[in-house]
Amino acid sequence: MITYNEETRIFHLKSVDTSYVLKITDQGHVAHLYWGRAIDGTDLNHLYQLNIRPSFTPSTDMDQLEYSLDTLQQELPAYGDSDFRSPAYQFQLPNGSTVTNFLYESHKIVSGKPQLDGLPAVYTEDDAEAQTLLITLRDELTNAAIVLSYSVFRDYAAITRSVQYRNEGSDVLKLNRALSMSVDMPGYQYEMLQLSGTWVRERYVHRRKLEPGMQSIESRRGASSHVQNPFLALVSEGATEQHGDVYGINFVYSGNFIAGVEVDPYLHSRMFMGINPFDFNWKLEAGAVFQAPEVVLVHSYEGIGGMSRRFHDLYRNRLTRGEFRDKVRPILVNNWEATYFNFNEEKIANIAQAGKELGIELFVLDDGWFGKRNDDTTSLGDWYVDRNKLPNGLGSIVQKVRDLGMQFGLWFEPEMISPDSDLYRNHPDWCLHVEGRRRTQARQQLILDLSREDVQEYIISTISDVLASAPITYVKWDMNRNMTEIGSALLPADRQRETAHRYMLGLYRVMEKITTSFPHILFESCSGGGGRFDAGMLYYMPQTWTSDNSDAISRLKIQYGTSLVYPVSSMGAHVSAVPNHQVNRMTSLETRGNVALSGNFGYELDLSKFSDEEKDLVRQQVELYKEIRHVVQFGDFYRLLSPFEGNETAWMFVTKDKTEAFVVYVKVLQEPNGAIGRFRLQGLDPNKSYQVFEGQDSGVYSGDHLLYAGLSVPRFYGDFQSCVYRLKSVE
Ligand code: DGJ
Repeated sequence: MITYNEETRIFHLKSVDTSYVLKITDQGHVAHLYWGRAIDGTDLNHLYQLNIRPSFTPSTDMDQLEYSLDTLQQELPAYGDSDFRSPAYQFQLPNGSTVTNFLYESHKIVSGKPQLDGLPAVYTEDDAEAQTLLITLRDELTNAAIVLSYSVFRDYAAITRSVQYRNEGSDVLKLNRALSMSVDMPGYQYEMLQLSGTWVRERYVHRRKLEPGMQSIESRRGASSHVQNPFLALVSEGATEQHGDVYGINFVYSGNFIAGVEVDPYLHSRMFMGINPFDFNWKLEAGAVFQAPEVVLVHSYEGIGGMSRRFHDLYRNRLTRGEFRDKVRPILVNNWEATYFNFNEEKIANIAQAGKELGIELFVLDDGWFGKRNDDTTSLGDWYVDRNKLPNGLGSIVQKVRDLGMQFGLWFEPEMISPDSDLYRNHPDWCLHVEGRRRTQARQQLILDLSREDVQEYIISTISDVLASAPITYVKWDMNRNMTEIGSALLPADRQRETAHRYMLGLYRVMEKITTSFPHILFESCSGGGGRFDAGMLYYMPQTWTSDNSDAISRLKIQYGTSLVYPVSSMGAHVSAVPNHQVNRMTSLETRGNVALSGNFGYELDLSKFSDEEKDLVRQQVELYKEIRHVVQFGDFYRLLSPFEGNETAWMFVTKDKTEAFVVYVKVLQEPNGAIGRFRLQGLDPNKSYQVFEGQDSGVYSGDHLLYAGLSVPRFYGDFQSCVYRLKSVE
C-alpha cells in the first residue's frame, strides 16, 4: 500500500483505485506530486516540477534559485519564509515571531492505523487492513516537531490524514493555526462543491467555479453546524453523478472548522481543512502535543456518485462502531410532533400500542419527560422523571411499552443547562460563559462547559444512572443551540481560546464513556435535526436525525445533499403529520412514506388518531421496509435525478451482490399534459434479469435494458406524487 523510493525520496500511497504521491525535496520540504486515479510504477520523479519565476517569487534555496516554496506544490505549508499562500499552521514563539522552518527529519511506515488520542477517527480491525506513513519534520531553533500522518486502506478507496504538533523544546509555544491537511492540486479547472443551509434546510448542494484567490466555508458556532457541513469537494468542470474526477475531503470533527481552496497566481488549487483558526489558540507547554483531528480524502474518477459510495463504504464499515454497525435498524415511532411537551402515561401508551399493532418495533419518548419540563424554558440538566406526567416513574412506562412487545427509547439533551433548573441553581459557573458578560440564551438555555472534567463526570453519571434504571435500548442525543460567550471558569487567561476545542474533547470523552458502557443501546445524535451531522458524531453514534424538517418534499433536497458524504444508514427519516409542522405543506401519506423509506425509517405523529385506511397503508409501509431495509441500509446508493436540477427526484439502492434493488421516484409538481420520458437506473448487473415489482412497470427486464433504456416515467395526477420499485434478480 505504501512504497518508498530512497533515491528520489518519493512515497507512493496506493489504496484500491487511488494513488497519492509525495516527495521529500532535497531541501527537506514535503512536496505534493499527485493525487488521483491509481497509477503504476516507481519512477515518479518526473511529476516533480520546478520552474524559475521572476523577482516577486522568493527563492527558498540560493543554490537552486528556481526552488521556491511560493510555487512548490506542498503537503503542509507554512507562512513567513517564502510562501505567500494560506498556511496550514502557525506557531508563535516566546519572542512573538511566527517564522518557523520545519524540515524533514525521519519517517516510518507502520502496519495498521494508530488511534488518535481522544478524537474520533476511521479505524481498522486488523493491522493488515491499512498502512500508515508518519513523517516527522523538525524546526531546529525551537526543537518543535510536526508529524504528518497518512493512512492507506487495503479495502477502501480513501486516504486519511492528520497532524501532530509537538513541542519538544524547552520554551512555551503557542499554536495560532493547526490545520489537519493541505494539498496543492495542479490547475484550477474545478468546481467547488459544498453542503450549506440552515436549520430545517440542511446540506443543500452548492457548486461554483473556482476563481483565483480564496473561497472557503467555515463554522464559528461551536458545532459543525446546519449552516456549513465540514465537507468540500473539487470536481472537474462538468462532472456529473457518473462521470468526471472528484476530490472530496471530510472532517472527522464536530466543532468549529474551516475548509477552503486558494487558487494561487500560478493557478494551483490549495485545498485545506482543519479546526477553524478564528478565535482559536493553543498553548503548547514544553513536552506537550496537539493532535489535529482527521480528514478523510476520497478521489473518484466515477463522478460524484462514485465519491459518495467510497465515503459510504468506509463510514459504514470503519467509522461507525458497535453492535449496531452491521445490524438492521429498528422502525420507530417518536412522540415529539404527536404531543410535544403535552403528554401523560396514557397518551404515550396509546401511541405505542397503535405502533405495535402496525408492526413498529421501537417507541421513542422525546423531550419533556424530566424535571418540570412543560415547555422549553426549563429543566435541562435535571435528569429525573417528572412525576406529574409519569406518576409511576420511568420504569413503569418503559415496562408498559416492553409488555406490548416493543423496545423503548429515550431523549436527552445532555450538553445543555436551563437557567431555570436545579443544576444551574447549584452550579451557576458550570456553563460556558465569560465573567462580567451577558450569558446569551438560545432556546432559553445555556451550554454546559464540557471542557471541565467535573461537568463531564456529572453528565456521565446522571445519564448512565437513567440508562441503567430501565431496559432502554435507544437514545436520542439532542443539542439545540450554538455557542456564544465561549469561555470557561476554570481555564487561565492564556488558555481561554482553547475552550471550544476542549469542549469537543470533553464531549467525545463523555460519548465514548456512555456509548461503550451501554453497548446494547442504539444511539442517534441530533442537533435540532442535522446541526451536527458529521463524521465525528458518527464514530460514537451510528445514526443522526437528519433534519427537523420532515416534509417529504423538503426532505428530497436534504436527504440528497446529505447522501453526498454520509451513508443512508446514518440518516433518520420519518413520516410526520400534515399539514407539515415546518412548512405547512400537504402531501400524501404514500409520498411521505416513500421518501422516509430511504433512511432509518419511522413515524413522528399520533398513530392512534389514524383512520383504518391510513393504518392499512402504514402497515404496508412497515412491512415493505422490513423487506427492503437491508438494501437501503447496507446497499450501494445511486442518485438518479436531482431535486436541485428539476421537478423530479429519483434514487436507488442496490445490494452488493446486485441481486436486489429498491428505487424511489418523486415528481414534485404536476405538469399539465407533461413530458413522456424514461429514467435510467444505475448499479445493476447488465447481465442479470430483474423482476420489477410495484409501480407502473411490472415484469421481468434485463439489467442492461434497465441501465441503458431505463424505466418509463410514471404518469401521475396531482402534485407531490411518487412511487417505489423493488427489483429482484431472477435466473
Ligand atoms: C430538536 C429535535 O431535532 C427534535 O426532533 C426534538 O427532539 C426537539 N429538539 C425536542 O426538544
